[in-house]
This record gives sequence, structure tokens and C-alpha cells, in this order.
Amino acid sequence: MQNKIIVTGGCGYIGSHTVIELIENNYNVVIIDDLSNSSEETLERILKITGTKPTFANVDLKDEMATKAVFKKHKDAKAIINFAAHKAVGESVKNPLMYYNNNLCSLINVLSAQIENNIEGFIFSSSATVYGTPETLPITEKNETQRPSSAYGNSKKIAEEIIDDVIKASNNFQAISLRYFNPIGAHESGLIGELPSGIPNNLMPYITQTAAGIREKLMVFGNDYPTKDGTPIRDYIHVVDLAKAHVLAVKRIINKEQDMPYEIFNLGTGNGFSVLDVINSFEKVTNSKLNYEIVERRPGDVPQLYAATNLAKEKLGWSANKTLDEMVKSSWDWEQKYRKEQSSKESGSAF
Ligand code: WQD
Repeated sequence: MQNKIIVTGGCGYIGSHTVIELIENNYNVVIIDDLSNSSEETLERILKITGTKPTFANVDLKDEMATKAVFKKHKDAKAIINFAAHKAVGESVKNPLMYYNNNLCSLINVLSAQIENNIEGFIFSSSATVYGTPETLPITEKNETQRPSSAYGNSKKIAEEIIDDVIKASNNFQAISLRYFNPIGAHESGLIGELPSGIPNNLMPYITQTAAGIREKLMVFGNDYPTKDGTPIRDYIHVVDLAKAHVLAVKRIINKEQDMPYEIFNLGTGNGFSVLDVINSFEKVTNSKLNYEIVERRPGDVPQLYAATNLAKEKLGWSANKTLDEMVKSSWDWEQKYRKEQSSKESGSAF
């Protein structure tokens, strides 16, 4: 009998990659997604890759009644992975209430519905943004979380605190928060990948859209940081490596292997790469020159962020293994395949 897992935001970038890994590990997946930043077409792509089309419910998790109804229908689920959230840092600074309302009200409705239906396992999609500007590197899970500078990051920090309080108030509820560093890359099939709506905030999709001719040039936000080449350093992690960690977290929580009811793990590679490292990698793997210009710093950026990875290794038995070149190449393969598909759709030939 397959264990059922509810995946909120499962049509999104990290969610869809995780759904594929769950299906390939013989889980029965139910996706709940409001499609506000994703497309139902992703379900067809998951079917094409795995041979299985996950059950799908188009529900706005801010709607308490609708959330309760869908959880009641799937109360035999063993665990929930909660990806559903808005995640554009810049947008959240301009529109904080939309972020607190969407990210936290949906979380509260999910937690209430899951407790009401005695679904015991909860896995939360968190972010290294909760650490703010770290005093020490690499960042361990013991690092003090600061007040993130964006409403997006703060919604993740507050969410973790809400989960902690819910755990303390219940006696059979287990939770794991996974703090992602910088997810990039795409599935080897080239059928799913990152598809930011509008102008990309993040480095990798901006690079691939520049190379694809959709953006005129990449603006490199500052080269006067205290780093080896002056550009900021981040811990880029392949989205499939990230997805695999979620499957291990599901196993841990279902098999009640946790050391405590609420655990937190960093998901990074432990390696820091600068913006120029990523650009150089892209130019190498694509054998092309990227059009970029060094401009002013972006407000809120920190000089360096990279993870201590030993806790996830020890407790989840997980570590990332894709190299930067492999991550960058997979992002480019996805961009090329997607644009080709779109242009053949526009010209009328099938996908
Ligand atoms: C990486 C580096 C930029 C774009 C954010 C969120 C984090 C997570 C990942 C959701 C920085 C530089 C970027 C560009 C550039 N999001 N850059 N030109 O800011 O580390 O993290 O995205 O979970 O929570 O905080 O990622 O890709 O935006 O930036 O020079 O056009 O690339 O300055 O140094 P970031 P990023």
C-alpha cells in the first residue's frame, strides 16, 4: 500500500521536482496548488516523466473551508510537505501584507486542517534567508536567526516559530523545517524547471534568459564586496538534490526516526560560489560569452552565505552531489527546451 503525501505548491519549481522524486519512491502524491505562480500543465509534464499523474486539487489555502474540505478528503495522508508560498524577495518588500497574508494564513489553515485530521507529519519549505547576515560561516542550524530584511524572509522565520508553538501544544505532531540555500538547475528531462513570472529576481534564470535573448544583459549587482572577486557568494544547490532531501525527510518523519518532535536542517552543498563563478561556469558549459555589466549593489544582499551540511548528512543521510557546472548546464538545457516548445506552440506544432 503506497503512503499518501500531500504536497502544497506541488506545481511549483521545487514542489514539482519533489513530487517526481516522491512518485519515483513509490509514494501516492496529492498536489494542492492555487496555480497563482505555476501551471496545471506541470501535471502533464510529471506524467510524462514518471508515468503517473498525481491527484490534483486547485485550492487557495487562504480559504479555510476549502482547505479543511480537501484535507478531510485526504485524511489518510501520512505527511504534508508545505511549499505553498509567494517567494519573490523584492516583491515582498513592496507588498509585505500580501506576503504575510498569503504565506502565513495558508500555513495556519494547513496546520489546523492537518491536526483536525490527525495527519502527524509536517515538512516545511524554509529558507536560509532566516539567518539574515551571518556572523560566522559556514552557517549551522544553531546560528541565531535574525530578522530578515524582506517580508518574504520574515514570513519564513515567523512560520518556523508558529510551527514550533504548535508542536509544543500537541503530543503527536512531528515537524521538520528544511532551510534551502540557493536552489538552481532543472530536471534532466528538460521538461520541468524554474519559470519565474515576469522579470526574474534570481541570478540563474536571469542568466539563462539573457543567453536566450529574452533579456538584453545581466546586471551584476556590485563587485565591491569583501569576497575573492568582489561579487557575493552563495551556496547554489541543484533542485533535484534538494528534492531528494525531502523524500528522506518524509521517510524520517513517517518512520518516527526523529530525535525531537521539531527538527531543522540546512540544505546546501557547503560550497560557496561567487556571481562571477556562476557566470564563468555558464560561459564554459555553453561555450559562449554572456552579456553582463557590473552595476550598483542590490539593497539587502549579504556578502556571503553558505551552509554547514553535516547535520543533514548525519540525520537524513543526505548530501548534495551535483557540481556547479552540472547545475548551470541543466538550467540552460531547460531554458532552451522550454523556449523551443513555446515557439513551436506559437507556430502551431504540438508539444
Ligand atoms: C544571488 C546572487 C545577487 C540577480 C534569494 C532569496 C532566497 C531564495 C533564493 C527563495 C546575489 C546576484 C542576482 C541578478 C545579480 N529564494 N544577482 N543579478 O538573493 O541569494 O536569495 O533567492 O527561496 O530566499 O533570498 O538569490 O539569485 O536573487 O541572488 O547580480 O539579476 O546573484 O546580488 O549576490 P539570493 P539571487
